[in-house]
Amino acid sequence: MTVLVTGGAGFIGSNFVLDWLAQSDETVVNLDALTYAGNRRNLAALDGDARHVFVHGDVVDRALLDRLLAEHRPRAIVHFAAESHVDRSIHGPGAFMKTNVEGTFTLLEAARAHWSALEADAKSAFRFHHVSTDEVYGSLAADAPAFTETHPYEPNSPYSASKAASDHLVRAWHHTYGLPVLTSNCSNNYGPFHFPEKLIPLMIVNALAGKPLPIYGDGQQVRDWLYVGDHCSAIRAVLARGRVGETYNIGGWNEQTNKQIVHQVCALLDELRPSAEGPYARLITHVTDRPGHDRRYAIDARKIERELGWRPAETFASGIRKTVQWYLEHGDWVADVLSGGYRDWVATNYNAR
Ligand code: NAD
Ligand code: DAU
Repeated sequence: MTVLVTGGAGFIGSNFVLDWLAQSDETVVNLDALTYAGNRRNLAALDGDARHVFVHGDVVDRALLDRLLAEHRPRAIVHFAAESHVDRSIHGPGAFMKTNVEGTFTLLEAARAHWSALEADAKSAFRFHHVSTDEVYGSLAADAPAFTETHPYEPNSPYSASKAASDHLVRAWHHTYGLPVLTSNCSNNYGPFHFPEKLIPLMIVNALAGKPLPIYGDGQQVRDWLYVGDHCSAIRAVLARGRVGETYNIGGWNEQTNKQIVHQVCALLDELRPSAEGPYARLITHVTDRPGHDRRYAIDARKIERELGWRPAETFASGIRKTVQWYLEHGDWVADVLSGGYRDWVATNYNAR
């Protein structure tokens, strides 16, 4: 048996592929365009492993998708490939529409053609798992209940609007054509291989380099942080046992303000790699806020627990310690990603703040 994963060289996708092959001998065909966020080094542990078939290509390439589906006949598709960074979507929304909307549409159409031609047993067993985000629900007031699966869609950024559009396409392909889909909407992930444009890895790499730690606005925005390995186990549970056509919210029951997160990262670095200049929190600076910045996200993850028996295994204390240790032990990986293109992004996003 085989599964087709898209975006498996990115942060969550590479963690998913590594976790999958640590627990199963089922082949993974990994289709990734290797944008700035895709990194073959994330998958170096699988070099020479015949269970991992890497394909460098784009999800908008219908001919390629048709060829891969005909050749490998996967029993499931797990769709991670996306442009994923809110700040990049503010500076350049076009790529988000192309990959997240047109790419999901193209993949759905290819999946539908493949699935329609399957024998009855394979047809009923087939799954299209769409990996999405809590950001599609918009922003919560401080005292509002956490997002359930029936919360209205109110996306506020070009990124979240593009993900909301892709969720709607997936839903429609199920209702109209009967394609056996599953959708999961997850909160903020953190962990190994997280690209340092996102809050937690940015703070770690900047602190170690003695650079400012830029907190947007007042830093009181709330996110619900989940260790990436727990997201991977949740996706496996949904894929294995989720009800077709359903959506499942995935979260860590761990709401924290950005300021709290940054202070915890600084405290761990003070413990594990103390600086001669003094505590890392001295580097914290408040910078101009993100336009349209969502104030609070929080996930009500009771449905996935009730129906599928999933709960996160890590606490934030255990997950963030593992994460900081991982960055301290992987200086080569960090140096590799902090190359020319990354410096351009830092200048674009931070110089005028
Ligand atoms: P990422 O940006 O780290 O990785 C995205 C991957 O997709 C990269 O390997 C990139 O090369 C690939 N890709 C981009 N465009 C492509 C295209 N056109 N064709 C093929 N491959 C392409 O993203 P991530 O943080 O790992 O997120 C993965 C998925 O999970 C996304 O769909 C995202 O919306 C969703 N998600 C992320 C989070 C989070 O906290 N990071 C939380 C919830 C949901
Ligand atoms: O909620 C799930 C989403 O989480 C995913 O769908 C996205 O793909 C993922 O990127 C993430 O989105 P956020 O915008 O919440 O993550 P980010 O790490 O960019 O920012 C987290 C918070 O930290 C947010 O409130 C903005 C703030 N921030 C971020 C950066 C990069 C700062 O204060 N300073 C920064 O330099």
